[in-house]
Amino acid sequence: MKQSIRVTVNGEEHTSEVEPRTLLVTYLRENLDLTGTHIGCDTGQCGACTVTLNGQPVKSCMVLAVQADGAQVGTVEGLAANGSYHPIQQAFWDKHGLQCGFCTPGMMMAAVGLLERNPNPSEAEIREQLEGNLCRCTGYQNIVAAVQSAAEAMRGAAVAQPVSAGGATGSAGGEEE
Ligand code: FES
Ligand code: FES
Repeated sequence: MKQSIRVTVNGEEHTSEVEPRTLLVTYLRENLDLTGTHIGCDTGQCGACTVTLNGQPVKSCMVLAVQADGAQVGTVEGLAANGSYHPIQQAFWDKHGLQCGFCTPGMMMAAVGLLERNPNPSEAEIREQLEGNLCRCTGYQNIVAAVQSAAEAMRGAAVAQPVSAGGATGSAGGEEE
């Protein structure tokens, strides 16, 4: 019997009827036509299906759509805004962080999840975050360089935010360096 879920995907709320066994990745691709989230293995190994669930990267082939009821989901389609690439997209472009591109949406969503909780990750932390995401093309070096570049750009953008008239001095969700 189908179950009603309400999920906010890339800021847009969707109410849908799904089978309890429907995977989140299937829901995104088949119900919402968000095919940027890829299916590589369907067994939790490759990370091609990575999205954010309430800000945390998850492998959407390992999550049921009903488990996302009431949640905020982010996919690669939601990264660009106002006609501009997200810093992680720009960095993958600039640093040649992809070849065939199959792993790239998952890589970027895993990286975004990392950068949201750690704006200045070490190379080791980036590699650890991405260890569940497989790439058969790049050898990973340029992917790591892209994440480092995006982190730098996002820290710069956070610093460039005007300080409120109330005199707050903390950075937007970031740690002090
Ligand atoms: S398709 Fe989900 S981890 Fe490979
Ligand atoms: S760019 Fe081809 S699998 Fe990563």
